[in-house]
Amino acid sequence: MQIHRMYAYNPRLAYLAEEDRYLTRKIAPTMTFNVIGTGVNGQEHIRNTLYEGHATIKGIYDPHPNSQKAAKDSFAAYVTDRELVIYQTLEEACNDPEVDGLIIATPNYTHIEVIRTAAASGKHILMEKPMATTIADAWEITQIAAKHPAVFQIGLQYRYKSIYTEAIHEALERKSIGEIKAITITEQRIPFIDKVHQWNKFSEYSGDTLVEKCCHYFDLFNLFAASRPVKVYASGSQDVNFTEFTYDGKASDILDNAMVIVEYANGIRANFMLCMFSPMFYEELVLCGDQGRLKVSESQDFLTEQGVASSMQIHCGESMPARISTPKYPSHIEALGHSGATFFEHRNFVDNIMGRPTNTATVADGFWSVVIGAAAQRSIRTGEPVYIKTLLSENGITAEDL
Ligand SMILES: NC(=O)c1ccc[n+]([C@@H]2O[C@H](COP(=O)([O-])OP(=O)(O)OC[C@H]3O[C@@H](n4cnc5c(N)ncnc54)[C@H](O)[C@@H]3O)[C@@H](O)[C@H]2O)c1
Repeated sequence: MQIHRMYAYNPRLAYLAEEDRYLTRKIAPTMTFNVIGTGVNGQEHIRNTLYEGHATIKGIYDPHPNSQKAAKDSFAAYVTDRELVIYQTLEEACNDPEVDGLIIATPNYTHIEVIRTAAASGKHILMEKPMATTIADAWEITQIAAKHPAVFQIGLQYRYKSIYTEAIHEALERKSIGEIKAITITEQRIPFIDKVHQWNKFSEYSGDTLVEKCCHYFDLFNLFAASRPVKVYASGSQDVNFTEFTYDGKASDILDNAMVIVEYANGIRANFMLCMFSPMFYEELVLCGDQGRLKVSESQDFLTEQGVASSMQIHCGESMPARISTPKYPSHIEALGHSGATFFEHRNFVDNIMGRPTNTATVADGFWSVVIGAAAQRSIRTGEPVYIKTLLSENGITAEDL
């Protein structure tokens, strides 16, 4: 019988004794994770691990007292019979023999250092996107992962948003629009929110906006194109956000709007439009195939009380019925973060550990999403198109390495 987390965690049913729980029982976890970095994203990982239920959390490593406190609160909302362990060093957190997996959610520029220690533990790894801020570091992580004896998953979880899960099903599995020829993604949203020490305001620490945030969309490009990028053109600038922002005497230098075009080896063309000074969250994917057009979108405008509004439209002219729907997960799953995508990322992390087939982002997926972001950033700086082969060879990576 299906598990009903909605009832298991319902405070109105908290009075029930364990022996009286059947529909409301919780899953008995069979594996244990530690979380490295417990800012806003690490806390989301703690909540999702515990709510998903097949795994539990033992402890965390994060040097910041506020983040330690927030992690304890997230943990205590689900686990009341023990305390969250706060490790004093990264090495201790990575090498605890009672722990099966590590979730790495530290700032982007720290991923490379953290992974050198984390991977040496041989434990299962779920590592946040972007895997690194530069192609050189992303390549080093790819090499580390190739020798890793356990699961190595990248946190590109947008593919589990309900709109993209449905788009994958329709376009790639059901082939509803025939052969995909062109891809467009748009994101319009509010500026980057505050972070611990404001690392996301500086390209040096984040990799800049097209690597930091937009790797999610480039991963979707790569997924739908099912090919390798050949050439990238981009234009962008910092026009509105953080133009007067400084931290530790240093001025912010991140893009807040951009347009990116990617050409793929199989002839598919993709474009991306970003604007980060919109008073809402809006994202949209349009796929044009030789048999039809698919559009999905997700919008949160803060005006209505309905939360995130989502939609999918598939038009196939005279050959098939058009379909218009509103893909959603139950609201208690969506409330766990990123429209429910993080919950499914965790379910699939557990499945990967159990050896079950999944479509989670691999290290290669993580690498190629960084490559497109870095190429676009380069194109913006130089005003020239960037050939991926040249960019990779500058980093000592040849076709034979891939
Ligand atoms: N997949 C997604 O949708 C998604 C969403 C948000 C953030 N992220 C990623 O998660 C990571 C963390 O982002 P965030 O938003 O939580 O940032 P944040 O600033 O809120 O939190 C980062 C935390 O890491 C801690 N930290 C810094 N260096 C550390 C180290 N060496 N070891 C341990 N802890 C360290 C900081 O003290 C802080 O608490 C980033 O890589 C970010 O890109 C992914």
